Amino acid sequence: MTRFDHHRRPLVIGIGGTTRAASSTERALGFALRGAEAAGANTRLFGGTFLHSLPHYAPEQPNRTPEQLELIEAVRHADALIIATPGYHGGVSGLVKNALDTLEELRADERPYLDGRAVGCIVTAYGWQAAGSVLTSLRSIVHALRGWPTPFGAGINTLETRFDSVDTCSDAKVVDQLATVGQQAAQFALAFNAHRASASASLPSGNSHNEAPPARLLHAV
Ligand SMILES: Cc1cc2nc3c(=O)[nH]c(=O)nc-3n(C[C@H](O)[C@H](O)[C@H](O)COP(=O)(O)O)c2cc1C
Repeated sequence: MTRFDHHRRPLVIGIGGTTRAASSTERALGFALRGAEAAGANTRLFGGTFLHSLPHYAPEQPNRTPEQLELIEAVRHADALIIATPGYHGGVSGLVKNALDTLEELRADERPYLDGRAVGCIVTAYGWQAAGSVLTSLRSIVHALRGWPTPFGAGINTLETRFDSVDTCSDAKVVDQLATVGQQAAQFALAFNAHRASASASLPSGNSHNEAPPARLLHAV
């Protein structure tokens, strides 16, 4: 394992939104990222416009677009993530799922997929049923990618809660919930990085105690 600088601010990557300019999902994600910043993280947002620029992920094609490589590299260096999706027909939207499928390119990394990283999960939907069920689906996807869903996830009913601008939300409770998602992602990253730094410091140089399992085992979840 490489020596780890636990004094730097952790990087929390946000992935989410829709193609709509006033996407409530992307605005909710922005609130969560600001919660992560308040807890000591740097952040970067991959919103709906960016996600729309990604081609449909095709594992058999060897070449990746600059946008695909940008996302892959950002997630590779991330300490935590926050993923926000609308509920579309009872599931995660295709736009967000395609971005997550693109992370297949991280399968052979030292930290495969989202290994060792907290992942805050946010769902917007026109009702409580999809808000709850899609949040469960999103967390299952995070588990499959070996990430650690934060204890608190946010399900937002956009029939009741409005995001009229990037920094306004009609419900203060939702603002608190989104900040909690960001805070938990950042706090996990800070704690996990400190743990990795102390574990790394106690090992002889060049020794690794956390080798990735063989690639054939990675899809077992
Ligand atoms: C194609 C499509 C499918 C949808 N399916 C559902 C659904 O199954 N359940 C639900 O509660 N809302 C559904 N919605 C509503 C969206 O989840 C909701 O409007 C969401 O907040 C949109 O996010 P946005 O403001 O970021 O675009 C659907 C919307 C669209 C466009």
